[in-house]
Amino acid sequence: MTTPTIKLAPSILAADFAVLGQQVRDAEQAGADRIHVDVMDGHFVPNISMGPHVVKALRPVTSLPLEAHLMIEEPDRFLEAFAEAGVERIIVHVENAVNLHRTVHHVKALGKKVGVTLNPATPIVALSEILPDVDLVLVMTVNPGFGGQKFIATTLDKIRRVRRMIDAVRPDIELEVDGGIDAATAPQAVQAGARVLVAGSAIFNHREPVAAAMDRIRSALPANA
Ligand code: DX5
Ligand code: ZN
Repeated sequence: MTTPTIKLAPSILAADFAVLGQQVRDAEQAGADRIHVDVMDGHFVPNISMGPHVVKALRPVTSLPLEAHLMIEEPDRFLEAFAEAGVERIIVHVENAVNLHRTVHHVKALGKKVGVTLNPATPIVALSEILPDVDLVLVMTVNPGFGGQKFIATTLDKIRRVRRMIDAVRPDIELEVDGGIDAATAPQAVQAGARVLVAGSAIFNHREPVAAAMDRIRSALPANA
């Protein structure tokens, strides 16, 4: 049995884009808590994925919250577009937001929840001044840019340290992890303090139904995390 405190956020980057709406419906029916939308521009990361149009197309398909993970240069230029397209939450990287405080408050002014995220090699001190202002911290457990990469085990200690930081500042801030999350790594991330798990290729893996893949992750989680 899953503990109710752990949320699953399927990343549609790994979904079959030819039937994207159905994949999202399948995830909703299987009990997903939110849908994670990976936005890549070919500059901040070496890959291109999708933009606000995809969010807009999915908005009527599901009642789940949609969250945009912006792996793009100059994220400020696109905040309105994602807000208007219907996301509930926008997650920005600390590495390229030159005026992160302004960006975070811009998202809030648009009436959206805001998350900040950091790459595996980015020290957590980058969070310290902005933490009280955010709803969520996303710890990248792979280098962003591609699905299907191997979980970087050294990020476990980082998750623990971010957990402590959050607990000291505002324990209601969500701690999410993203990259290489599957039935083997999900319990480790949860033990380290993660409460929201993004998973792409472990859920939309085309080998088994979405519901079976999600159950596999859930049933691996510690019962009392
Ligand atoms: C990586 C993305 C992830 C990715 C996760 O750049 O931010 O959300 O889709 O994919 P998996 O779960 O396959 O590592
Ligand atoms: Zn992501």
